[in-house]
Amino acid sequence: MRVLLTGGAGYIGSHTALVLLEQGHQVVVLDDLSNSSRESVRRVEELTGQEIVFVQADLTDPHATRAGLDDIAFDAVIHFAGLKAVGESVEQPTRYYRVNLDSTLVLLDLMRERDVTRLVFSSSATVYGDPQTPLIAETHPVGVGLTNPYGWSKAMNEQIIRDAAAAWPALAAVNLRYFNPVGAHHSGRIGEDPSGIPNNLMPYVAQVAVGRRERLAVFGDDYPTVDGTGVRDYIHVMDLAEGHVAALTHAEPGVQAFNLGSGVGTSVLEAVRGFEEASGRAVPYAIHPRRAGDLATVVADPALAFERLGWRTTRSFTEACRDAWAWQSANPRGYAG
Ligand code: NAD
Ligand code: UFG
Repeated sequence: MRVLLTGGAGYIGSHTALVLLEQGHQVVVLDDLSNSSRESVRRVEELTGQEIVFVQADLTDPHATRAGLDDIAFDAVIHFAGLKAVGESVEQPTRYYRVNLDSTLVLLDLMRERDVTRLVFSSSATVYGDPQTPLIAETHPVGVGLTNPYGWSKAMNEQIIRDAAAAWPALAAVNLRYFNPVGAHHSGRIGEDPSGIPNNLMPYVAQVAVGRRERLAVFGDDYPTVDGTGVRDYIHVMDLAEGHVAALTHAEPGVQAFNLGSGVGTSVLEAVRGFEEASGRAVPYAIHPRRAGDLATVVADPALAFERLGWRTTRSFTEACRDAWAWQSANPRGYAG
């Protein structure tokens, strides 16, 4: 397949591009580079020895998007492009809704015009809100009592895609609800490169380990969990990337939704210890108050993805820490060097 990756220069997109190319597909990346650099695409080309067609354009701009893709054919789309910082979405709700909704609307119109029917969308476990069961299955209610515009924008996107499929029965869409992506390609050549102070746990831990930041703030130690700190389902980004290829292959007319997670919960302190062991570096931390909007435990029931897509995680959290460290230690300042 020739696959268009919107936001394909970003963290998850670059790893997915690599897996697609390794499995014999062709890749077109459309990205405005608002949260990434051209260098990630160049490194995927270097790792695979194959070329990527790169288009720099803002997907929320229908004219720029059409002009950029004018003479470029593709027969499937993975839609990663969007804004993803939960806290920032509370501060800038209109910007988050505009980017995360307009991008999908522009894309769906373009797909219909071009008669491209295969779509995989980057959704998130945040669509489930506060979990009602220890493991979250796809049957869990979606879009109920969400606490931030980012989460709402993902739930709204899923609805938009369902409505688009109702009006266009040929559309074969898959909403992938990611749990917590971590790690990097084992080469250490591509990885997560957040701009500014990382919002997420693992890139922050990696930057403490490499000496860029002094200590980690652990947000709360009074949750009803194994050691009082938040528990999440961390998934190796290469497993996640492979999940996209499985979803593309199994897409069928209509809309499906799958969790991409491991089913294993890891606390913040367990994650810190895991990273210390993998890196051989100390990760000093201090306990801080809870972060607003955080949940105690968010862990996937990953059974459906295995049953329908034949996909499940094969890499451990330890492996993710080792690969994240390979990336961070070789690129202390990310793609900037
Ligand atoms: P990322 O920021 O690294 O990648 C997103 C890419 O989209 C970036 O390269 C950015 O430049 C591009 N982009 C943003 N706005 C654009 C626009 N208007 N036009 C064109 N390109 C645009 O983030 P990521 O971690 O790779 O996440 C990819 C997707 O997965 C996002 O939709 C995110 O919400 C979703 N997701 C991420 C996580 C996570 O923890 N990383 C969890 C759940 C869901
Ligand atoms: N945490 C800290 N200190 C930090 C950062 C995080 O203690 O500096 C804790 C959090 O309180 C939480 C855990 O580490 O208990 C994980 O936090 P992250 O910010 O790494 O991840 P979240 O689970 O809050 O959210 C992430 C992404 C969302 C995505 C969601 C899917 O940010 O975009 O996973 O579950 F939707």
